[in-house]
Formats: sequence, structure tokens, C-alpha cells
Amino acid sequence: MKKAIYPGSFDPVTLGHIDVIERASKLFDHLIIGVLCNSAKTPLFSVEERVKMLREVTKHLPNVEVKSFGGLTVDFARECGANGLVRGLRAVTDFEYELQIAQLNRVIAPEIDTVFLTTNLKYAYLSSSSVKEVAAYGGDISSFVTPCVEEEVHKKLK
Ligand code: PNS
Repeated sequence: MKKAIYPGSFDPVTLGHIDVIERASKLFDHLIIGVLCNSAKTPLFSVEERVKMLREVTKHLPNVEVKSFGGLTVDFARECGANGLVRGLRAVTDFEYELQIAQLNRVIAPEIDTVFLTTNLKYAYLSSSSVKEVAAYGGDISSFVTPCVEEEVHKKLK
């Protein structure tokens, strides 16, 4: 059984993330989305809220599970019994940072392989931070997130 994790902050989940999740769920038998709870960044949403939104937007994908984790991503992968680690690449600028993390993870957990999926060009510009910024200034985020996430972002920023 091919099992992978897709770790991230998902604060909040965007259409770009969902695109990566849908494609990764076809490549692996089981995909576990890992929502990081010990991020250095101060998130807008609590880990429970991020997990809830991810469960909602992935409910059409039967082989996708959502969990939260703390500590090292590779330890989470090991706990899940996964040997694949999925990350999305939007642009060359992501690559340097992602390659560094992937190489580091390879040294500490050689049995886990990082798989990069290039983001659909439609979402190449999209990030959770830009969604929050646009929403904070009253902009329309309906092209970036699902309606349920849009509602949660507006509720949170009220
Ligand atoms: O969505 P993000 O914020 O780009 O995700 C980054 C994430 C969660 C993949 C990365 O920060 C991470 O793996 N953090 C957990 C700590 C860890 O494993 N560090 C070692 C690699 S730097």
C-alpha cells in the first residue's frame, strides 16, 4: 500500500492545496494531510479549525485523512507508516526552500521520499497569506478558497 503524508500549515486551505491533494490522492493509496500545530508563525486559525476545514473540503476523497501533528514532519510520517511526503511547488522561488527541507529530511529519514507536485498554473500565484491579506482589506477571496472556507475567513476577521 502506497501511503504518503502532505504536511503544511493550511492557514487556511486554498484551492491550490486542494488541487495538490486531489492529484496526490490519485498517486497514493492513502494520503494523510498533516496540519502542523507548532509552527513558528502565529496562525489565524487554531489547529482544530484548520483540521475541520480540511476535512470539509476533502470529504469527496475517500482515501484522504486529516490529522494534526507537532514536532518533525518525518516523525509524523513514520508514525503514519508513510514513506512518501508530498509538497506542492508553485514557482522556482519555492524550489530552493523546498529542496533544502527535502534534503534535510532525507538525511534524518532516508526511507521517506519527498514527491513534488507542480501546482496547476491557475493557482501558481496563490498562498494562504495572500488570501488572508486580501480578505483583511475587504477583497473578494471567492476565487481562491471554497465557499465554506471563505465564510470561516470572514467570520474570523470580523
Ligand atoms: O505550509 P507550510 O507552512 O509551507 O509548511 C511547512 C512545513 C510544515 C512542511 C515545514 O515547516 C515542516 O515540515 N515543519 C515541521 C518541522 C520539521 O520537520 N522541520 C524539519 C524541516 S525544516
